[in-house]
Amino acid sequence: MSTIPFDRARLLEIASTFGTPTYVYSEALIRSRIRDILDAFEGMRLLYAMKANSHPWILKMMAAEGVGIDAVSPAEALVALACGHDPGHVFYSPNNVSDEELDWAWRNNFVVNFGELQRIESFAKGHPGAEICVRLNLNIGAGHHEHVVTGGTKSMFGIPGNYLEQVLNTTRQHGVRVVGIHQHIGSGSTDPQPLVEGIETIAEVARQIDGLRFVNMGGGFGVSYEPDQTPLDLKQVASGADAALSALANSGVEVWFEPGRFLVAEAGVLLVRTNSIKQTADRTFAGTDSGMNHLIRPSLYDAFHGIYNLSNDSADESVFDVVGNICETGDFFARHRRVSEIREGDYLAILDAGAYAMSMATHYNLRPLPAEVALLSTGEARLISARSTAEEVANDILQRDVSATN
Ligand code: LLP
Repeated sequence: MSTIPFDRARLLEIASTFGTPTYVYSEALIRSRIRDILDAFEGMRLLYAMKANSHPWILKMMAAEGVGIDAVSPAEALVALACGHDPGHVFYSPNNVSDEELDWAWRNNFVVNFGELQRIESFAKGHPGAEICVRLNLNIGAGHHEHVVTGGTKSMFGIPGNYLEQVLNTTRQHGVRVVGIHQHIGSGSTDPQPLVEGIETIAEVARQIDGLRFVNMGGGFGVSYEPDQTPLDLKQVASGADAALSALANSGVEVWFEPGRFLVAEAGVLLVRTNSIKQTADRTFAGTDSGMNHLIRPSLYDAFHGIYNLSNDSADESVFDVVGNICETGDFFARHRRVSEIREGDYLAILDAGAYAMSMATHYNLRPLPAEVALLSTGEARLISARSTAEEVANDILQRDVSATN
């Protein structure tokens, strides 16, 4: 039987009050994750990669905690501003975008991160005196799945380190100053070693650049989704990279990190209801009222999410395929999983669903999106997003249709 960092009775109460499917986020857990990072890396500046979960309730909490934002699109940046973030604390870090978008970001006073040499060349010509950050790919990559490894020669991200001289020449020639360098090696590593190597490598590059104000080390801190997985020890990363981090501090260069998952993943659960139990010669399926449209990580990365039967937690375990209501065989939350006996009508909690869950949800099959509920530190459960309705989804599709008027 797996355990959950939530009160079971409280989750059952939330499921019956607000219905399902519903995401629940714990304020206390998010705040304690912020503390964990700040405690591990003294004097650092923390940004939140809002792609992990862009709910305004979370973004406002980050602003109140003094945590800045890593944004990758105009809409992300606009939402961050609307939630109280200063433009100077928004790190704008898109990939493969147009000169116009980068110019828009610069005019909005975001800290703009450039990941393509050509974009730096065209930007530098038109913006003498501007200050920019450059995303480098220093050939170190790590992640929980090949789709999320962002360093190395097979990755499209960042400017390969051997082009740094060219970047510095171009910017110098046009009077543009490189005030920051950035690297993100990948997402979801629970092994401290590549994270340490990443910090050491970019700190070494930083020594070669005059006038640098900050080094953004990216995000990528993993969490343990599986019960027997060893959690990442941030203090081990900090002590492993101590010499490199101290050298930066001593030369007056700020250290930034921009994690997403680590701050919010474990603070979220997805509550679903079992609508049917189906037995075949091979499997027992527990069919729920949610699916890959709400949490795509199992289908996309074969990712593990713990599943807890809230309604029958002390029963003997059986093996289930926990699936959704989407018309694809790849629509599953777990395959061949031991869970306390699931019966029709049981409420299940799908664990560690605070990151890359609701933010990757879609209306596929034209199913409505889940509700979202914040479990506040005061104990109050507050609805922060209403579940969308079938009528809303249908109207949205119909209203977008301009075929009859064109
Ligand atoms: N910085 C950059 C440049 C990134 O590309 C990312 C994530 C982050 C920071 C935050 O990484 P984190 O601290 O959350 O690992 N959908 C996938 C994860 C995709 C990550 C994309 N980039 C998943 O569900 O595992």
